[in-house]
Amino acid sequence: MTALAIGVRYSAELEHAADFRGFRDGVRRLWLAGVAPRDVAWTVGPPAQGLFEAAPSASSLRAPRPEEAPRVPKAFVDLSRLVICHKAPDRFALAHRILVRLQDEPTLLKVATDPDIARAEMMAKNVRRCSHKMKAFVRFRSTADPDGGERFVAWFEPEHHTLDLTAGFFERRFAGMRWSILTPDRSAHWDGAQLTMAGGASKDLAPDGDINEDLWRTYFGAIFNPARLKVQTMQSEMPKRYWKNMPEAALIQPLIRSATQTTGDMIAAEPRAPARSTRVARERLAEERAVAGLSGSIASLEDLAAAARHCERCPLHGPATQTVLGEGPRDAPLMFVGEQPGDQEDIAGRPFVGPAGQLFDDALEAAGIARDKIFVTNAVKHFKFEPRGKRRIHQKPGLSEIDHCRFWLQEERRLVRPQLTVALGATAARSLSGKAVTISKARGRVMDWPDGGAGFVTVHPSYLLRLPGAEARDNEMRRFIDDLNVIKEAVWG
Ligand code: URA
Repeated sequence: MTALAIGVRYSAELEHAADFRGFRDGVRRLWLAGVAPRDVAWTVGPPAQGLFEAAPSASSLRAPRPEEAPRVPKAFVDLSRLVICHKAPDRFALAHRILVRLQDEPTLLKVATDPDIARAEMMAKNVRRCSHKMKAFVRFRSTADPDGGERFVAWFEPEHHTLDLTAGFFERRFAGMRWSILTPDRSAHWDGAQLTMAGGASKDLAPDGDINEDLWRTYFGAIFNPARLKVQTMQSEMPKRYWKNMPEAALIQPLIRSATQTTGDMIAAEPRAPARSTRVARERLAEERAVAGLSGSIASLEDLAAAARHCERCPLHGPATQTVLGEGPRDAPLMFVGEQPGDQEDIAGRPFVGPAGQLFDDALEAAGIARDKIFVTNAVKHFKFEPRGKRRIHQKPGLSEIDHCRFWLQEERRLVRPQLTVALGATAARSLSGKAVTISKARGRVMDWPDGGAGFVTVHPSYLLRLPGAEARDNEMRRFIDDLNVIKEAVWG
């Protein structure tokens, strides 16, 4: 609850700190009544009591009929949905001010240098990052559910108010188990069929530990590779503020301390089979995922390759030479998704090594993105073609082929967990979004895929190869490189 400031003409009450529905309703009423953003005090919780309680509530103002409502582009809705999750106290006033300005300045959102827009974009970026951290660092602990059976409970302290924004991700990921995520100002509860959002909780409600703690510690110890230790990168990816709620965090300092010594030992040592702890951790993790209704025992990209080798989910496996999965670092922060392997990829068993791949490499280089730092894959994993004499002519994959193959792409994303996934062209965008996407409309801005991961849409490199005339090709290449620069900025800042 926030006390009202002197000079305020209206108070606008919200049910919780990221109450987008309440904000939208309030801002429409205020706009219709011509109340200026500076004259509004946004309060979370019941109306303020005492000295300033005289300010009338925005809810007493008339709601606009559809034809009277303020006009805003969808991009504003997307932006303000993120901005109001930020912890800055002036977030509602900022979103209100942008809405008012948009009525006279319809292209305002494109003016990146405008102070309101720059601040809103920066806040949206912080919120996206916070939501990403929540997806990566929430740790469930097994408890007895009050109604019987098991419930997984996690305590988490996000930097911003991102639980409402991110709860859908956990719903989709852990649909088969009952879980609760508790944060200081909000909680989310899934009973296997329905998601309920409620008020904040205290840390005492979350169980301190159980047998899964051991699993996490073993797992984290096993995946920790001291030869690749970069303390700063590690701390920015797994900031200290989250350590206290993560069982494996107890291992971080000792592992950092012993890293130099261990690296020397590893170089000197003979090659050997994976440590027992690694195998045990993988087996236990696979068991846990199977219990949670997740996809079988695929715990690594190697497991995935073994499972996909004999894929017969659609008829494309027949004529193709082999399944072509993606390649790149297991922890790549950025994933590019193309359409399907072409003639050369089908033979080499690697994505983007033919003419489109060469053009893609040139554009990456121009944008300063190292290919060996990114994960490159395709929406469809088999080459679809029509034989014509000795040649194999590329054919676009159909919807059913894209949809059947989506499973493999989802598994790649689950294992790599990129911060940002880029669709190169319509097939990839269809696979990632589950619906048809018009590239010219979706292109050029960071948004969220339906599974909650951050996304970006741009053209496919082979579109550039097909353009008639050098001038058109040069222009489009420049636009493609511009997109890659935006992508690079979003991932590496
Ligand atoms: N086109 C794609 O979409 N992917 C490849 O791997 C090669 C060409």
